Amino acid sequence: MTVDNPRFDAVFAGLTILDIAGRPVSSIPDGGGIAFVEEIRMNPAGTASGALMNAAKLGISCATSACLGRDEKGDFIENRYRAMGIDCSLLQRTGAMATSATILPIRPNGERPALHCRGASDEWWLDESEFDALCDTRFLHHGGTGFLAKMDRGQSAKLLAHAKARGLTVTLDLIGPNDETLGQLKDLMPHVDYFMPSMEEALFIAGTADPSDAAARFRDLGATACIFKWGEKGSFISTADGDWRLPAFKVNVSDTTGCGDAYCGGFIAGLSMGYDLEEACRLGTAVSGLVATGLGSDAGVVDLESTLEFIRTASILDDDNG
Ligand SMILES: Nc1ncnc2c1ncn2[C@@H]1O[C@H](COP(=O)(O)OP(=O)(O)OP(=O)(O)O)[C@@H](O)[C@H]1O
Ligand SMILES: [Mg+2]
Repeated sequence: MTVDNPRFDAVFAGLTILDIAGRPVSSIPDGGGIAFVEEIRMNPAGTASGALMNAAKLGISCATSACLGRDEKGDFIENRYRAMGIDCSLLQRTGAMATSATILPIRPNGERPALHCRGASDEWWLDESEFDALCDTRFLHHGGTGFLAKMDRGQSAKLLAHAKARGLTVTLDLIGPNDETLGQLKDLMPHVDYFMPSMEEALFIAGTADPSDAAARFRDLGATACIFKWGEKGSFISTADGDWRLPAFKVNVSDTTGCGDAYCGGFIAGLSMGYDLEEACRLGTAVSGLVATGLGSDAGVVDLESTLEFIRTASILDDDNG
């Protein structure tokens, strides 16, 4: 069943974090010492939020379902969303936990070790009676399986089943996989159109070193297609028609935090604008490359027009030619 005239192009649901990042950080000063950095930024982030903000910048109509604390971090995120024109009517605020947050001391080469404090995202909960309000959209991105304590225990699978039955296109990304992740994915994959973890995560979960084997495993579990984000190698795409790699764009890397989340946002925005799979992956690749040029998951991307101009003018980062 497909719903006519849904309210949103895309709803981004799940892990939402306040990131506080500083760069460059080579080491933590000894004792109570002080060191100087060039830049510190604070921005909404996380598997749902990093995709959401970049999709919104590209101009599609977006809403989010997530849980924030009733604290200054939650206020900051909600205010930022409202300023970006993101619909916040499905946002939850809890007094039980503080907003999930991360401190990121970004290394000079752009790598990002993370100090994460779990919080309100673990309280995110949707009752079956709330599923329809969330599914008033063409695309549903569920991000953050692994860091969503309440929903991870079976309720997310029910939500995705509901979304699929209503005819939505469902995308899924996760975080911090462990030995339990494959078990969770068995319930989720039958309702997923595009499974979008990083390559590192995909290989770990599938227990193989071969991308095609990993993708086949997830497609056997029910995912229609897999897109593995592969850092500077770009992304690996696996559908019933075959497997291929789309290279990344060459950029001056400042901070790669949230590049994978940004890829999902660009990809979904592309699909929702009617792009085919390859064009949508290219838009995701461009958005993620631009995000790598600045500090924070929402850096680098301005709007659709400038992102398309970047696609026209940027060089390809390929093993073969450069
Ligand atoms: N060094 C780089 N140069 C160009 N593009 C990059 C680089 N690193 C990452 N990207 C782009 O970002 C995308 C996602 O990167 P990555 O594989 O690191 O995702 P991830 O591990 O899921 O990230 P996160 O979970 O922090 O959002 C890649 O598919 C690529 O398009
Ligand atoms: Mg990721």
